[in-house]
Order: sequence, then structure tokens, then C-alpha cells
Amino acid sequence: MSGEAIRAEALVKTFRDRKARALDGLDIAVQRGDMTAIVGPSGSGKSTLLYALSGLTEVDSGRIAILGERPADAADWTNLRARRIGLVFQEDWLLPTLTAAENIELPMLGLGASSAERQSRVRGLLDAVKAEGFGDHWPAGLSGGERQRIAVARGLANRPEILLADEPTGELDSVNSRAIIDLLVRLRAEAGLTVLIVTHDETVAAACQRRFQVIDGRGRYVS
Ligand SMILES: Nc1ncnc2c1ncn2[C@@H]1O[C@H](COP(=O)(O)OP(=O)(O)OP(=O)(O)O)[C@@H](O)[C@H]1O
Ligand SMILES: [Mg+2]
Repeated sequence: MSGEAIRAEALVKTFRDRKARALDGLDIAVQRGDMTAIVGPSGSGKSTLLYALSGLTEVDSGRIAILGERPADAADWTNLRARRIGLVFQEDWLLPTLTAAENIELPMLGLGASSAERQSRVRGLLDAVKAEGFGDHWPAGLSGGERQRIAVARGLANRPEILLADEPTGELDSVNSRAIIDLLVRLRAEAGLTVLIVTHDETVAAACQRRFQVIDGRGRYVS
């Protein structure tokens, strides 16, 4: 699939209690199937950018088109996220009262798959993130790295066209980190998945085709 996955122009976001703008006129354009590393210092606006591109943060001004859609309100964004976007947050945000498998299944609800299809897909995802044995564990009983792998599986549960991932390998050792990257590279090749991945890890960034650097709320491609 070719064409534009993401086009965002002149994004501005100010948090009420901060003088500096978290996003200060940022532009980014991402082609479908691109795997882009979002890099830059702490506090430069990387997470804010991902939140803005997922519609979870409302920007003060600027334009955002996702896969040709321009969501007009919160309901449009919710609908777009449910169908076409996968999210992995910097914190894992697993629901503590659901098992790992149920957390992964959650984004599949309402998308038309039967219970049997959902279960089979959950097993496939657990396998893919090397968490085969953890399906019936509670989040509180998992290590940080195990929770992070479950969060990546959940981010892929709705078979998204775009995955927005905020340091998804930050808690992982190099073997598990490699497994996640290999999975994303495979999904890109097989399904044309577009990936934006915030990372401080050079190995992860090196696996991406492009590198987008955010500094003081402004961004540019550096490779
Ligand atoms: N909810 C919030 N309320 C107020 N200020 C915020 C909020 N979220 C982010 N900020 C501020 O906006 C700026 C950008 O933050 P952001 O979280 O996007 O940085 P980041 O590049 O993701 O950093 P890190 O690498 O540490 O995760 C920072 O100055 C931060 O303090
Ligand atoms: Mg961040």
C-alpha cells in the first residue's frame, strides 16, 4: 500500500502550567509502510506528538490527517483509533483487573471477530511477543518487561494500519527488544504496517528506515 499515513502541519500544544510550548509548530509527514524512529532529548515533545497524532491530546492549533481522514471531534478520533491505530504508551496502562490475555483482547471487542477468533489471535500475539506463558497472569504479577510485551501485543490487537509506540522496548533486555523489533519489521513487510516508535535505543532506531528528531517542540527528519 502506498500513499500518506500521517500528515501533520504546524502543530502547537501548550500546557497551561508551562511557559514553553510542548509542540511549537511541528510538521511531520509519514508514508504508509514507513518505520520511523522518533528521537530527541527528554522533554522535547515526543510523547506529546504521539498523543496528538492519536487524538488523545487536543492540539491548540494545527492540522492532522491520518490515512486520509481528518477527525473533526473526539467521537471521530475514538472511531479512527478503534479501527486503524494501535497504541503503546510510555507507561503500560494495562487494566489491573483483567488478565494479560483479556487486556490484549480488549481492543478486538466490537470489531466483529468471534470469541474463538479473538482467543486464537490473543494466543498468536502472546507468542509473537514471547509471552506465551503469561496469558492468565494478572498485570501486577508480571515484571515491567513482561507487562511491556503484553502492552505491545495489545497495541497490535486491532490489526492497526499505524502503530504509535512510545519507548515500547524501554524496559526490555536486548533479546526481548530484538524480538519486538523483528515483529514490527515483519508486520511492516507482511501487512504494510506504518510504525512511529519513540526510542532512546540506538539498536531500535537503526532498525527503522527513517529518523525524526524532536527538539524544543519542533521536528525534522535527520535520515
Ligand atoms: N500533562 C502535562 N502537563 C503539563 N506539562 C506537560 C504534560 N505533558 C508533558 N508536559 C511537558 O511538555 C514537554 C514535552 O513533554 P513530553 O512528555 O512530550 O516529552 P518527551 O520528549 O516525551 O520526553 P521523555 O523522553 O522524557 O519521555 C515537557 O516540558 C513536559 O514537562
Ligand atoms: Mg516521553
